[in-house]
Amino acid sequence: MGPSMSEITLRRPDDWHLHLRDGDMLEAVLPYTAAHFARAIVMPNLVPPVTDTAAAQAYRDRILRALPEAMEFTPLMTLYLTEDTNADDVVAGFRDDLITAVKLYPAGATTNSHSGVRNVEAVYPVLEKMAAAGVPLCIHGEVTDPEVDIFDREAVFIDRVLRPLRSAVPGLKIILEHLTTRDAVDYIREADDGIAATITTHHLIINRNAILVGGIKPHYYCMPVAKRETHRLALRQAATSGNPRYFLGTDSAPHPDSEKESACGCAGVFSAINTMACLAHVFEQEGALDRLEGFASLHGPAFYGLPANDDTIRLVRRDAPVAFPDRIETGSGTVTVFDPMFPIHWDVAED
Ligand code: NCD
Ligand code: ZN
Repeated sequence: MGPSMSEITLRRPDDWHLHLRDGDMLEAVLPYTAAHFARAIVMPNLVPPVTDTAAAQAYRDRILRALPEAMEFTPLMTLYLTEDTNADDVVAGFRDDLITAVKLYPAGATTNSHSGVRNVEAVYPVLEKMAAAGVPLCIHGEVTDPEVDIFDREAVFIDRVLRPLRSAVPGLKIILEHLTTRDAVDYIREADDGIAATITTHHLIINRNAILVGGIKPHYYCMPVAKRETHRLALRQAATSGNPRYFLGTDSAPHPDSEKESACGCAGVFSAINTMACLAHVFEQEGALDRLEGFASLHGPAFYGLPANDDTIRLVRRDAPVAFPDRIETGSGTVTVFDPMFPIHWDVAED
């Protein structure tokens, strides 16, 4: 091993998959993301979902109003695709820079996805217009067929839905989000340039044991659910490989503890506070600190066709573990922060 690094400077990162929510929750969580990230792809799964450009514009305004005055942050808005989506509205919103991408949730796959797409072929005409206009599609890649085991839903989605979709609409730019399996890693590596993928911080750190061993641990439950260890290792290999097809989307998804610690708990891990510190730990463990900038700051903008950020952040390795809050208080209740189950020595320097 080479000399250990105690400090690293990166172009400021972006988060290519983030849940900011609305109202009190938005106000509480936004400053944590804005402290480290310049931009984020903001998920549209509000209640009701953000399904047209006017709603995206109103949501963007609420985000900017919730941003503390001294902070800079650019929300990149998405539209929630339904079987009633109007392609002209999507294309106009994209051309006017009001939206950056469209999000496909298979109906019932995750939190607030009941108005998602039931029959993907029904949206092919919209996807064709998006392809022609260069509008990217973000995909939650899981089938929701009750016959398919929940741990297999991502791999089955690739074969049943994604491959046919890509043949039917070959020019569409796609981001397969929050990979959780070796199957998805392999698929992305071997596919053409029209598709890339995001990986979350927590899927690089936990496998399904975190959720199920020694009692049921709802704060590690998210969608897609963490898989077995071999898949986590494949994700770490992909994220630290330097391959520009893989980039960071934290999927930080806050829920009040009362909704997580329940007989039917919500899916979602809130990691915005310590995600960069956890990533530095992971990349250091893999001997790949020099590739963190690509993963967190360069590959995402390159795929979206946006410039990388001009300014930088500095990550510092402290001798003593850094104390992150275990939970935060919000106007909608207490929210537990992702616990990586190892001491974190990295911190984003405030300067
Ligand atoms: C997300 C949420 O809570 O909105 N939950 C999650 O487990 N990731 C929805 C999602 O992105 O699937
Ligand atoms: Zn998400």
